[in-house]
Amino acid sequence: MLPGPTNVPERVMNAMLTPIINHRGSEFARLYRSVEDGCKNLFQTTNQVLILSASGTGGVDASISSILGPGDSVVVPVFGEFSSRLAESATYAGADTESPTAELGTAPEPEEVEKAMKKLVKPKALCVVYNETSTGVTWRSLSRLKAIADKYGSLFVVDAISVLGGDELPVDKLGVDICIAGSQKCIAAPPGLVLVSLSDRAKRAMESVKPKSQYLDLGKYLKFAERGETPFTPALPLFFALEEALRIIQEEGMDKTIKRHASCAKAFYSAFEAMGVRPFPNEDNRSHTVLCMRYPPGIDDGKFRTLLDQRFDVLIAGGFGKLKGKTFRVGSMGEINESLVTRTLIAIAQALNHQGYRCDEFNAVSSAWQSFKELGLG
Ligand SMILES: Cc1ncc(COP(=O)(O)O)c(C=O)c1O
Repeated sequence: MLPGPTNVPERVMNAMLTPIINHRGSEFARLYRSVEDGCKNLFQTTNQVLILSASGTGGVDASISSILGPGDSVVVPVFGEFSSRLAESATYAGADTESPTAELGTAPEPEEVEKAMKKLVKPKALCVVYNETSTGVTWRSLSRLKAIADKYGSLFVVDAISVLGGDELPVDKLGVDICIAGSQKCIAAPPGLVLVSLSDRAKRAMESVKPKSQYLDLGKYLKFAERGETPFTPALPLFFALEEALRIIQEEGMDKTIKRHASCAKAFYSAFEAMGVRPFPNEDNRSHTVLCMRYPPGIDDGKFRTLLDQRFDVLIAGGFGKLKGKTFRVGSMGEINESLVTRTLIAIAQALNHQGYRCDEFNAVSSAWQSFKELGLG
């Protein structure tokens, strides 16, 4: 129940047993095209989607350094650890970076973003994190942010690493120029691949930027993609796994996958409310994929999570940075379903009670089930 990597279905694990193939042959071209099609369904786009053998950060660095360089300016709003890393990627690329901030647990107001854009001469991009995994905040203003980007003629870049597949993000409808997703989150594949969609406008912007790293040069990936290949040796077992994971999403249907994530998150939030455990983010921007919850007074983070792990076999994450010891985070992604929600809630209630807190686990589970029932899923 970590906010990534998440549980990987057996079908996906088994796909990795496929014998290794020639990555410069027709078998790989078939695999590449199949993964590409699955990605387009996931991103809801007709844009090209590239697949890099790298973690999420590799995809972020590749995207940023392919469109930005010294002399360029960019706005990257910061409201947690991963948006801060996104801003850092822009600084690494040599771009002049303006970062409006917001208190942890909230997302910046679009007006603040616009003010930051106004300060710059021709901002080349507006880069945002859609789901801030460190605080459990989903920034629900993407269309307003896109309108701001458009007003300044800037590219709109979205780090959707911990949310694509788990919440609404129709790339084409929203007009996202670059969208980045990680294999190890809502897609329920193992870690190690990052998916990057590129609009034609983003491709054109790349033409005038001199790449700083050959491994992260998206121009090279585009060239090799024409013949269904990657420029460097791909992580073949992960490609087979991703193909299967995307097939599962297609079988379920994107709408249903997104709805399942929403209802599991809703059930979690209503059970936590029954337990008296409060979410860290504001109500308006609570994530459907990462639940960041405040510890009730007196609960020791290390002891709590060790008990969950050792007695209940449930792994959750602690708070990030300034929130360490103050919050815990539950990943509600990928394979997430009613039984995983129930099991996690019982374990959390018992582990809290073990440290002297008083909550009724049956009450909590009933609230979750009531929520599933109201949504027609119980
Ligand atoms: C929103 C977001 N961006 C970037 C990353 C970095 O991804 P990775 O750790 O796979 O490099 C993460 C990882 O959790 C994330 O949640």
